[in-house]
Amino acid sequence: MSQTHKRILLGISGGIAAYKCAELVRRLKDQACEVRVVMTESAKQFITPLTMQAVSGEPVADSLLDPAAEAAMGHIELAKWADLVLVAPASSNIIAKMASGIADDLLTTLLLATPAKVAIAPAMNQQMYAHLATQSNLATLASRGVAVWGPGQGEQACGDVGKGRMLEPNELVSLALKTLTPEVPLLAGKTVTITAGPTREALDPVRYISNHSSGKMGYALAEAALALGAKVNLISGPVTLTPPRGCDVHSVSSALDMHQAALALAPGSDVFIGCAAVADYRAADIAEQKIKKQGDEMTLTLVKNPDIIADVAALTAQRPYTVGFAAETQDVAQYAQGKLKNKGLDMICANDVSQAGIGFNANDNALTLFWDKEQQSLPLASKSELALTVVKAIAGKLN
Ligand code: C5P
Repeated sequence: MSQTHKRILLGISGGIAAYKCAELVRRLKDQACEVRVVMTESAKQFITPLTMQAVSGEPVADSLLDPAAEAAMGHIELAKWADLVLVAPASSNIIAKMASGIADDLLTTLLLATPAKVAIAPAMNQQMYAHLATQSNLATLASRGVAVWGPGQGEQACGDVGKGRMLEPNELVSLALKTLTPEVPLLAGKTVTITAGPTREALDPVRYISNHSSGKMGYALAEAALALGAKVNLISGPVTLTPPRGCDVHSVSSALDMHQAALALAPGSDVFIGCAAVADYRAADIAEQKIKKQGDEMTLTLVKNPDIIADVAALTAQRPYTVGFAAETQDVAQYAQGKLKNKGLDMICANDVSQAGIGFNANDNALTLFWDKEQQSLPLASKSELALTVVKAIAGKLN
């Protein structure tokens, strides 16, 4: 990050909400942000480069092949200059290009070239926003760590009512400031090992038993621990997410693989967080050849997997502060407190997965943290926000 930590590259794509960008830049400058503006060709149909130059106090960049602009600040230099690249408004077109990695103009090229955090503020007709193509592109971007801010709900410029309005400039400013304010490095010098995602228990060379864990919560915890300055080992089961930059990824498949990696890394760690949805059982024997259809019924013999987190908590030497997760559908507090005790954990994060929209596979979650004699409820929030709160709570318990 730069010395000021507040260098924002605003990428404006073509949408009617672009008219709000002048206000957005003014409000960012009120907060002592340095702002440089890049516009796509279609953005210029909605607001002029002259307006954006006047409010930002900097020349507006709009061409990849402009020798004069390249001589002043080349596009790679501009990509490196930013602490945050904010695409607002982000049209369905630029979202699709970003998801595909297309770089056919200055803004899309910068988006591939920047090492900075990228955020987008989607703005489009509600039907376009709801389209499966747009939703799948947004999910792809989110899985790569792009922050998706909004859209809001309400009346649209085209007369429709629904989801697709760009967030208001003041909302975008507060999100940008929050993103750019560095966290206090509460975990500097500490090593945090996290298990995430599902495990796969092979039955034969082509089949396995698994579960619906997406790994989102574990990956968000890894990102949060990195933000607090920790060295992070991420032991991940098979997921489709991109790991946060800077963590040491150990990809595993079965519970036995995860157990081996966890017990190798835990003794060198200050904190161990078991967020993986580990299969409780595995096949007693993995068939060497594909199992053939037999009768109307078949019986699988399963044997118990080791309890990874209980084994970590039972370490007698170099035992890390050990944190588990408990997904429950009923009597959450009672079951969670039971697991805290039986597994010998220092802390457990419990969620009620019977509630729609939270827990497995969702982007949001609500948790209750339990210690031996204490508890703390964390209301519904994004997994990233919750992860930061959880990791800060853990940091507060370390000596
Ligand atoms: O017993 P249950 O699966 O509900 O406990 C959940 C907690 O235990 C999670 O932290 C999970 O990562 C961990 N766990 C484990 N090894 C297992 C089963 C669960 O580490 N075999």
